[in-house]
Amino acid sequence: MSAHPTDLVTEILRLKKDRNAVILAHNYQIEEIQNVADFVGDSLGLSIQAAETQADVIIFCGVHFMGETAKILNPSKTVVIPDMDAGCSLADSCPAEKLEAFLKEYSAKNYYVIAYINCSAGVKAIADVICTSGNAVKIVNAAPEDRPILFVPDQNLGAWVTEQTGRPMDLWQGSCYVHMEYTRDSIERAKHEYPEALVVAHPECPQAVRLLADEVCSTEKMIGYCKNSPANAFIIVTEEGMLHRLRREIPGKVFIPGPTDQCACAECRYMKRNTMEKLYLCLQDLKPEILIEEGLRLNAERSVRRMLELS
Ligand code: 13P
Ligand code: SF4
Repeated sequence: MSAHPTDLVTEILRLKKDRNAVILAHNYQIEEIQNVADFVGDSLGLSIQAAETQADVIIFCGVHFMGETAKILNPSKTVVIPDMDAGCSLADSCPAEKLEAFLKEYSAKNYYVIAYINCSAGVKAIADVICTSGNAVKIVNAAPEDRPILFVPDQNLGAWVTEQTGRPMDLWQGSCYVHMEYTRDSIERAKHEYPEALVVAHPECPQAVRLLADEVCSTEKMIGYCKNSPANAFIIVTEEGMLHRLRREIPGKVFIPGPTDQCACAECRYMKRNTMEKLYLCLQDLKPEILIEEGLRLNAERSVRRMLELS
C-alpha cells in the first residue's frame, strides 16, 4: 500500500473508530506512530492500559512480548501487532526451556523468580512475579525474604536494582543489545561536548554508563525527571524514540541523544520494524494476531497480575 502520509493518518483514525480499537505505542516507536496512538508510554503504563481498556481490539505498536502481555491480560480481545518479527534481543536471551532446565538443576535453592517484562509468555508462566524498569525496586522489595531471588533476563537492570535495594540476587546473563551499545567513552565524550547537560540513563545500560548518569530510570520516569529538574539540557541514554516524547511534552528544554561509539544515537531495530503502512494494514486485516495457548496464558497471567497488584 502506498498513500500520502496525511491520508494514512486519516485512514488509520477511521479504521480505529470502525473497529473500536485502541492504539498503544511504546516510547521507542517512530514519531508518526506516537502521534496517532491513544496512549504512549513505558512497559508498565502500557500494561496498565492493556488491563483497563474497554476497546474490542488492541493494536500494540511495540515489540512481540508487549503484544503478548496485552493478550495475557485480555484473552477475549483481538490483539494485533504491526510486525510479527518485531522481537527483542533481551527476551531472546532467556528461552523458557533454558530457564526451566536451570531451575530444575538448582531446585534445592527454591528460587523466587522475578522476570523483567521483556520476556516471552513461556518465561512469564514460570516466573513468580513480573516487573518493569518502572516498578522493579518495589517488586524486589516485596519479595519473600526467606528465598533467594533469581532475576531474569536482564543482568544490568538486575544489578541496578540490587544497588538500589541492597538485596542480592542471582542474575541471568541477558542484556539489551541497544543499551549495550553505549560505553563509558561515548557518554564521557557527550558530557564533554555538552557540559551543562544532565545525563539520564535507562537501567538496561551497563554499570560503567550508569555510573556517569545524574539519573537512572524507566522511560516514563524520564519525562517527570526532565520536566521537574531545574536543568535545561539533558543527554538521553536510551533508544532514540524517547526523544520525540520528551520534545513534544517538554518543548522548552533541549534533549541530546546519547551517542554510541559508532553512531550519534542508538536505535532498536525491532521497535523500528513498525511503520505507518504496517499499522494501517494490521488495522485493516486485524493481523498478525497474537494467540496464546490457554494453559500457558493462565500461568503467565498469574505472574503479570501479581505485578499489577504490587504496582
Ligand atoms: P521501559 O519503557 O519500561 O523503560 O522499557 C524500556 C525497553 O527497553 C522496552 O523494550
Ligand atoms: Fe528489546 Fe532492547 Fe529493543 Fe527494548 S530496546 S525491545 S529491550 S532489544
